[in-house]
Amino acid sequence: MRRKHKSAKPFESSIVVLISGRGSNLHSILKECPQCRVTAVISNRADATGLEIAEAHHIPTAVISHRDYPDRSAFDAALMEVIDGYQPDLVVLAGFMRILTPEFVTHYHGRLINIHPSLLPTYTGLDTHARALADGVKIHGCTVHYVTNDLDVGPIIIQAAVPVLKHDTPDSLATRVLYEEHRIYPQAIRWICKGHVYLDDAGKVQFKRLKQPGPALISPGLD
Ligand code: GRF
Repeated sequence: MRRKHKSAKPFESSIVVLISGRGSNLHSILKECPQCRVTAVISNRADATGLEIAEAHHIPTAVISHRDYPDRSAFDAALMEVIDGYQPDLVVLAGFMRILTPEFVTHYHGRLINIHPSLLPTYTGLDTHARALADGVKIHGCTVHYVTNDLDVGPIIIQAAVPVLKHDTPDSLATRVLYEEHRIYPQAIRWICKGHVYLDDAGKVQFKRLKQPGPALISPGLD
């Protein structure tokens, strides 16, 4: 009898990216994650410009509009069906502006990540830059985390901090934070795809190798 060989797992990990808009994080992932294959980009909005970025890279796209479904559950079920058709190792939320149901989050437990434009757990939700400025915080930033059922919270993988400068507006602060998003999201994805980072059974992020930073991030700078 011929022995059945299990096919060797290819080096590449496959990713499905969910977007709703501009797609600048998608662009940075495509540029900076050569080990990972983006097998599909799915948007809930047909006018998301990120879809053009995917098409320019010859990546299959799909639009699943939440407006076509009676409720959140039906929309998420349709989304899961399309995503599962690609059998991704990782599902990446990159500016996907829909709240996901517990069924969806549970289905992708440990392989669903998000980027949020604040230093979580502060400033969950929207308008993070304006709120940070209104509060007068001196350090702001962005966070990549595994997704759990609580909005914008979940085990943290990596964060980047930026100083809030004297003449910052929400837009100038957003630009500085976005620059860091484009550095930390691909980094987190590369770690996960290489198996260097994972979510353990206790729901904690584990690192196989961890490069510790310097002793402090201080803003404003010391004299
Ligand atoms: C980013 O600021 C991200 O942190 C947030 O949504 C925005 C998406 O931007 N979740 P883009 O579509 O990747 O340019």
